Amino acid sequence: MHILAIMGSPRRESNTELLLDATLRGAAECGATADKIVICEMNINPCVECYACAVDGTCPIPDDMSLIYDQLVSADCVLLASPIFFYGLTAQAKALVDRCQALWVRRYMLKCWQPDVASRKGAIIAVGATRGARLFDGVLLTAKYFFDAVGVQFADQLLVKGMEERAQVIDQPGQIDEAVELGRRLACP
Ligand SMILES: Cc1cc2nc3c(=O)[nH]c(=O)nc-3n(C[C@H](O)[C@H](O)[C@H](O)COP(=O)(O)O)c2cc1C
Repeated sequence: MHILAIMGSPRRESNTELLLDATLRGAAECGATADKIVICEMNINPCVECYACAVDGTCPIPDDMSLIYDQLVSADCVLLASPIFFYGLTAQAKALVDRCQALWVRRYMLKCWQPDVASRKGAIIAVGATRGARLFDGVLLTAKYFFDAVGVQFADQLLVKGMEERAQVIDQPGQIDEAVELGRRLACP
């Protein structure tokens, strides 16, 4: 299994990144390989709704997203990780998600791409500071339609509440263990 791991926090060594790395460690135990992309260190612009992608499924914006499309299409598993910002994804992660309109177009408008959804998995890791019952409602809905656009089945999730300081999750070994377990679930037969 090859995983595309998307690190959506604007800060490094963050709760999100630590959980993502632990997930990849768990997946590696089962032989999975991974490409990890750190969005905050890349140049990914927002969708400008020009619908140039409606012509041939390609986005004309010249930035790092042009590499990521191929990675999204070829990965066996897409792992999206983001903190909760105002009950949604970070702006960095949402920009990547919105740019996947080009893949939605390929799949549903042009019908020139038929992903093998049954064999491809999507999973989300989300981290928030508060503990409300509806903390993850927004990102789960976004993830559902993101995974649909990129042609993977929404297979699993790790949702962590009560994390505010950078790397605070290290003090919660149980949460790191859960992330390792998520990786094993995704990659182990
Ligand atoms: C702009 C901004 C908006 C945030 N919005 C929320 C929110 O709506 N709900 C919440 O529980 N935490 C919110 N947080 C807190 C972060 O989700 C929390 O600190 C998280 O652990 C950060 O993850 P990271 O360490 O991976 O970057 C917000 C933080 C920032 C900076």
